[in-house]
Order: sequence, then C-alpha cells, then structure tokens
Amino acid sequence: MSTDRSEQVLDYPFRAPSAVEPPEEWAKLRQGCPVAHVRLPSGDKAVLVTRYDDVRKVLSDPRFTRNLSQEGAARITANEGGSAFESEAAAEISGGEQHEKWRRFISRWFTVKRIASMQQSIEAMAHGLIDRMVAKGPPADLVSELAFPLPVWVIAEILGISVEDRDRLARWSNAMLTMTQFTQEEVDRAQAEFVEYLMGHIAKKRAQPGDDLLSDLIRAADQGEHINEKILLMTAQGVLVAGHETTSNMIGKMVAMLLSDRRRWEQLLAEPSLVRSAVEEVLRFDANAGFGLPRFITEDIELSGAKVPGRTTVICSMAAANRDEKAFERADEMVLSRSPNPHLAFGAGGHSCVGQALARTELQTVLSVLLRRLPSLDLAVAPEALPRREGLLVGGIERVLVRW
Ligand code: HEM
Repeated sequence: MSTDRSEQVLDYPFRAPSAVEPPEEWAKLRQGCPVAHVRLPSGDKAVLVTRYDDVRKVLSDPRFTRNLSQEGAARITANEGGSAFESEAAAEISGGEQHEKWRRFISRWFTVKRIASMQQSIEAMAHGLIDRMVAKGPPADLVSELAFPLPVWVIAEILGISVEDRDRLARWSNAMLTMTQFTQEEVDRAQAEFVEYLMGHIAKKRAQPGDDLLSDLIRAADQGEHINEKILLMTAQGVLVAGHETTSNMIGKMVAMLLSDRRRWEQLLAEPSLVRSAVEEVLRFDANAGFGLPRFITEDIELSGAKVPGRTTVICSMAAANRDEKAFERADEMVLSRSPNPHLAFGAGGHSCVGQALARTELQTVLSVLLRRLPSLDLAVAPEALPRREGLLVGGIERVLVRW
C-alpha cells in the first residue's frame, strides 16, 4: 500500500460489486489507510474511518455531535433533507439535554420486555402477509409482500394507529422515503396529508389516551413535562423515519444474504435455534448498509495513531468496521452461530438505535416464520442481479424475487 494513499481524496460512498458484496475499498482502507480523506456527494470533504476501534471510539464519544448544521461541518448532499437521521425532527431533538430527555421517554417504550410482549402480534402480521403472498403464488417480490409492510404495521401499532389506517401510513411513508419514484409534488402532498392525519390522531389520543407511545407522552405532558404538540409530531415522524425503511431494507437483505448461498438457509432449517445468532450475523455482514454515520469532531482526537483535528466531519463506516479482522475472527465469512457478536450495525454510545430490541424481534420473527412456512424458499434471480436500492443513507435491495 503506498504511503500517499492518505493524501488521496476518494469519492464517497463507494460502489460495491453487487448488493451482497462489500466495496473492495473497505479492506484496503482498514489495512492501509484507516483515516481516509473522502469527497462526499455535496463536494465537501470529510474523513472516513473503517476500523472497528476507531468507529466505536468516535460513535461512543458524547462530545461529538451528529448535528451537521453547524458552521464548518460537511454537507452530505447538495440538496437538503436527504438523510433519515437528519430530518427536521431528528435535528430538533438531536442535541443535548432535550435529546437526552426525549430519548429517555421513548426508550421506555422500546424496552426488551415491552417489545417481547409485541412478538405475538408481529408473528401474526408475518403469517398474514405470507398467506397473501402464497395465495398469489411464486415468483413473488418479498420486499413488497413482506419486508415493506411489516415494519410500518408494527410502527402503526406503537403509535396507536388502527388497523384500518395502517396502510395509509404505509403509503405516506413510501412516498416520503422513496423519493425517486414520486414527483416532488406527490412527496409534498404525502407529507402534508401525514402531518394532518397525525394532528387529528394526536387530538384523538388526547381525548382518549390508550396504551401507545403517543398516549404515554401525552400523560407525561399532563404531569408537567415539557412536551408540546411539536414534540409529539416529531416523535411520531421520527419513529417512522428511523424504524421503517431501515427494518424493511434489513428484512430484504437478510433473506437475500441467506439465500444467495443456500447452504446458509439449509443450516437454519436444520438448526432453527440459530435464528437469533443468525440475525446478529446478518446485521454484522450487511455489505449494503448505506452511508455510515457522520459526526462533527469538535476537538482534536487520535484515531489509529493519526491526529484528526477539531472541526472535521468524520464518517463512521459501521459496515466496514463490522468486517475488521482485528475485532472478528473469520470476519469475511458469515458464521451463523457467531457469539459474541458485538457488531456496530445499530451504532454505539448515546445515540445508538433506540429501536434495536424491536428491530431484532422483527427480524427474528420474520426469519422463523419464513423457515417454518416456506422451507423451499429460494431466490428467483441470481444474487448479482438483485437490484440495489439507491437510497443514499440506508442501503437496500429494491426487489427480492423469490420462489418456493
Ligand atoms: C435493522 C433495523 C435498524 C437499523 C439498522 C437501525 C440503525 C440505527 C442507527 C445506526 C442509529 C444511530 C443513528 C446515529 O447515531 O446517528 C439509529 C437510531 C435510531 N433508531 Fe434505529 N435502526 C433500525 C430499526 C429501528 C426501529 C425499528 C426503530 C423504532 C421503531 C428505530 C428507532 C431509532 C431511533 C428513534 C433512533 C434515534 C436515537 C437517538 O436519537 O438517540 N430504529 N438506528
């Protein structure tokens, strides 16, 4: 590896050979240039870190903010609003005390215990969606039949949105997230309809609170907490933005990864007790995880022996870190029984994913139900032909065509 690699400025994000293989730059940079200079789609420069220890160190450091609206921070894209974690809602509640408080509140809702109590309902949703897919017959697109609707139905339940209304939520979310398929006018209309619906929904919950996240927040507000209409609205939007596309994409990628080498699927059929560790390994091994997490470094730090000056934007590639040989034995192999598996797919530190217990439960449930219901499941296209979803920040697969 030439020493002047660290002077080079690479265009980021990198392009992977296929939806299930990592870009070759990851291993090269981890080895030869752990603190790399990159140019983002906006044209702004940043530093990319790819080693496990560096990514973990930056993400866990509470001094470093993900709020890139500060003077001197790099912009990801030239246009505004491209990021799932940088939405207005996220920005508003992303810093300091306000964020701490918000996070504490919503964390109560996402405890392992509470989520475990939703497992049966998630399983019923998975069965219902698979029934519908099976009735139509193969081949089927697992994304539109299962991976897309399930997580948004789950979020509807958390927000106390009725079964009758949940497909409207799915439609709005789709328009707001997959912007390329819709005109700006359609996206704006979806956004406006969604906000109007939520205002009405919040009013209903005020009048008649139930056992859901918004009612919980309303009750806290009644007890003197500073939770206004805007925070309620932002919470609902934030949970939808953070929890829908991420989980939908991961379900699609999980099935694609396990079927792209069918020995993996067969191992799970033979040993269903591996579902839990297999889900963790899928999260670790995700080659199409998207952009990574940006942080604005406010003070000098040292990463892999190099000094990174304050006022630098650092992009943490959790997916590259998750394949670091120094942190994981046989890092470039999928080992479905791997344990422990301290991957960074949910981030680390004070901002790490609040919904991770839920995401895990959804992934484990979908996988178990698929193994039981459709043991003969297989990809209906070659893995190299799986069309990538070009979402900039959360990578995914557009369609996962399967047969059984
Ligand atoms: C496989 C699916 C998922 C993945 C890979 C994922 C990943 C992440 C990551 C990496 C972060 C950290 C962002 C940062 O540090 O800037 C995050 C934050 C967050 N996630 Fe997830 N997530 C998933 C599913 C969910 C679900 C299902 C929900 C809830 C319904 C959720 C709710 C949140 C929230 C609210 C935050 C913000 C936490 C904060 O600001 O402190 N996520 N997620």
